[in-house]
Amino acid sequence: MSDLPKRIRILEEGPREGFQIEKGPIPTSRKIDLINSLSETGLEQIQVTSFVSPTAVPQMADAEELVKGFTRKPGVRYTGLWLNDKGLERAIATGKLDIRGSLSLTTSEKFLLRNQRRTHAQNVEAVRGMIAMFKHYNVEVNRASIMAVFGCNFEGDIPTSKVIDIAQQLFDLAEEGGCKIKTLSLADTMAWATPGSIRRVVGAVREKFPEVELSLHLHDTRGMGIANAYAGMEMGVAIFDAAVAGLGGCPFASHKGASGNVCTEDLVFMCDEMGIETGIDLEKLIESALLAEEVVGHPLPGSVKMGGSLAKLRKKVAEEAGKTV
Ligand code: COA
Repeated sequence: MSDLPKRIRILEEGPREGFQIEKGPIPTSRKIDLINSLSETGLEQIQVTSFVSPTAVPQMADAEELVKGFTRKPGVRYTGLWLNDKGLERAIATGKLDIRGSLSLTTSEKFLLRNQRRTHAQNVEAVRGMIAMFKHYNVEVNRASIMAVFGCNFEGDIPTSKVIDIAQQLFDLAEEGGCKIKTLSLADTMAWATPGSIRRVVGAVREKFPEVELSLHLHDTRGMGIANAYAGMEMGVAIFDAAVAGLGGCPFASHKGASGNVCTEDLVFMCDEMGIETGIDLEKLIESALLAEEVVGHPLPGSVKMGGSLAKLRKKVAEEAGKTV
């Protein structure tokens, strides 16, 4: 068996990825309750909202009000998502978020046109503009991400060579702008990955760009989220985006049914049981997951919030047997 990392970093995206796809109106105060609850779990980073067009994503229309309302916990990074200059300016204007300089390209132009209404060439120009904006606001750029890496609902399978080509374009754009990409996130935006393709693509990207740290953004639409995270760990990946209770999905990905991110507490549970550190308190995270379900008002896909942790069960069994653990 390959060496698994001793510690992984989990970046929570539930409030952003999660709420963007919800149909019903969710009061801003309830979204804030979830963010404040997540802040108590030991998570190092929480993506709280996105600054996108309220016509395109009505659930994110309250971004400013939400940012104003949550309580920052020292030691936790609170981030937002934006896809254009206007979004970045709105995020900065809140004065309360950790602004992270990141560049993004997409392998699939058909998806890009639906999601951001841009061609690839226009997106490349937008990345150049974004680098200039980051410079203007003195934000360090050290991260890049690629969307639709493992397949696309509109273009089908994505050849690994295309992923390498897009990664190279991102590194070239960063170099041209005088920045250095330290971390590259590979996003399975439309849940096409399986452990086999994770191994193949992560292996190819790592071989081509050995100095870059890789992270994975996984969706669980086809039940492959945890298996894919494990395959990623086997390939040495130690940074994962995840969403509490398995919230989420891209409204422009044309998914039927559940399309959430890999579930944070399920991932933490697996790591706990395998001796991989996450720095996250699973019991507290389960409480947040149950709250997330209450906030959206319907069942969410995560499993461990229903089954409970084994640590708790072991304790109960031991107590019943008159022992302490
Ligand atoms: N925040 C608020 N409003 C925005 C905005 C932003 N970041 N970006 C654009 N808008 C508004 C403009 O003000 C304009 O409004 P108006 O019609 O009332 O004048 C309208 O949106 C169109 O603006 P334009 O500059 O032409 O943008 P666009 O049509 O090219 O839209 C996106 C591009 C990406 C901003 C838009 O498609 C979008 O926000 N999509 C959401 C994508 C998303 O959230 N995907 C899920 C996460 S990956």
